[in-house]
Amino acid sequence: MSSRILILYYSRNGATQQLADAIAQGVEKAGAEAVLRTVEGPGEPKSSRDLTVDVDDLRTCDGLILGSPTRFGHMAAALQQFWERTSTEWLRGVLVDKPAAVFTSSSSMHGGQESTLLSLAVPLLHHGMILCGIPYTEPGLQQTSGGGSPYGASHVEHADKVGSGISAVERDLAVALGTRVARIARQLQSRSG
Ligand SMILES: Cc1cc2nc3c(=O)[nH]c(=O)nc-3n(C[C@H](O)[C@H](O)[C@H](O)COP(=O)(O)O)c2cc1C
Repeated sequence: MSSRILILYYSRNGATQQLADAIAQGVEKAGAEAVLRTVEGPGEPKSSRDLTVDVDDLRTCDGLILGSPTRFGHMAAALQQFWERTSTEWLRGVLVDKPAAVFTSSSSMHGGQESTLLSLAVPLLHHGMILCGIPYTEPGLQQTSGGGSPYGASHVEHADKVGSGISAVERDLAVALGTRVARIARQLQSRSG
């Protein structure tokens, strides 16, 4: 049975969604199912593309990859609010021992990507997940002039290139992260199986 990897993200202007899509490609490359889910910000309409996350998605996933735009060096409030509705799942340990990873998009290179990636990791650690980063065996980590870090996948919207989308290196690193989480989920399932 193929693993189900939940890719849960918030994106107001589409950059974080592009990373989510590249991560989904990586998950599928590893033979797993990519389940894309989102949350709505206050007063915003539902996504016309991806379903709104339900807490039950946490129970049914075999791994989770969480993404947010950088908001003052932190994850967006809409995602934080979602995690604050998950105490029942936390008490039941539905995410314990499942692999996880994080991703972000920001408008500036040193505007808080790493703190945002770490902020995204915190609730996943509280839920008992096994955090996966991007290892330096990925050549893109040495080549990038934008996003991509050992803490997770990312994109920098350089001011002179707004709207041009994620770069080839950022995409490669996001794909690699999706593949890695899916591969580790399968390995963990086969060991516990
Ligand atoms: C309220 C707010 C706070 C932001 N804070 C930061 C920040 O701390 N650092 C930064 O580089 N960009 C910041 N940005 C810019 C977004 O992180 C950036 O535009 C991101 O790529 C948007 O992702 P999206 O297209 O998925 O919505 C902020 C944007 C908003 C609206």
